[in-house]
Amino acid sequence: MSKARSGATLATMSTPADLIRARYGNLAFEPPAEIPAGLAMVLDRRVTRRYRDEPIPEPLLQTVLAAAQSAPSKSDLQQYSILVLQDPAKIAAIADWIGTMPWIKQAPVLLLFCGDIRRGQRLAAIHGREHANNNVDTFINATADAALAMGHCILAAEGAGLGTCPISYVRNHVEKIGPMLGLPKGVFPVAGLTLGWPVARNEPSPRLPQNVVVHRERYNDSGLEAALPAYDALRPPAKPRYPEVYGPKAEGCVWSENSARQLSVPERFGLSVWLKLRGIDLA
Ligand SMILES: Cc1cc2nc3c(=O)[nH]c(=O)nc-3n(C[C@H](O)[C@H](O)[C@H](O)COP(=O)(O)O)c2cc1C
Repeated sequence: MSKARSGATLATMSTPADLIRARYGNLAFEPPAEIPAGLAMVLDRRVTRRYRDEPIPEPLLQTVLAAAQSAPSKSDLQQYSILVLQDPAKIAAIADWIGTMPWIKQAPVLLLFCGDIRRGQRLAAIHGREHANNNVDTFINATADAALAMGHCILAAEGAGLGTCPISYVRNHVEKIGPMLGLPKGVFPVAGLTLGWPVARNEPSPRLPQNVVVHRERYNDSGLEAALPAYDALRPPAKPRYPEVYGPKAEGCVWSENSARQLSVPERFGLSVWLKLRGIDLA
């Protein structure tokens, strides 16, 4: 079997019902008895945090990047940029600044998905127009473009037998990553993405039930509290977040408690200041 096909093959070994069971911890609904291999692959996706020491052939990398660029883009404006890092020294510098994620250094490629407002500003200047949209709406559009490109890249990589892991922690170090990678004003990191050949695949991570996340015709989150005990029980207790604030917990924390711990402490407090300094107007 070629490496390029192994990711899709793994997914197609499971039945649709197996894939739904793995995603929700139970057969939350009855899927069609047969589904296309591409849909099975998407249902089976997981992050990869262990990579083989093996490069990605350039033609495959370029094709995966073309898939990233195949994502939809708001008004076809394409307000994002993708930086491709293959220099081990640069990847190691970012990994060392982050400190806790050895999979960044293991991966042969680290991509940086950025919102890019600068390109539109340059287009306006080239055509003698004033760029009048350095605002929060453009920030959302550029962020959505970058995130969709990253999503397409993840699925394309998975289909090619590669593994990926998004890295939000690049935003903890924007003040160093910006100059190291020459990010000009108007260009801001949304997330990194490790890319490489998996040593092993993670277990699928169960998701909240559809009645919590998917709202039919009208928003309704009244089922949240009732859904939590079963959902928390599906997930092994994790390392407690912010033990220095809320204390350690030998038995670990369930998903909802850890989410509450994490969200109660403001993260990346300085990011809006950095964005402002880099010419992004969030007004
Ligand atoms: C925007 C974004 C940022 C993320 N940042 C990190 C990160 O910095 N480090 C990491 O190991 N995983 C990161 N992840 C991966 C999530 O932890 C992972 O998707 C989640 O635990 C669910 O696991 P799964 O993708 O295997 O289903 C990130 C995911 C997203 C979408």
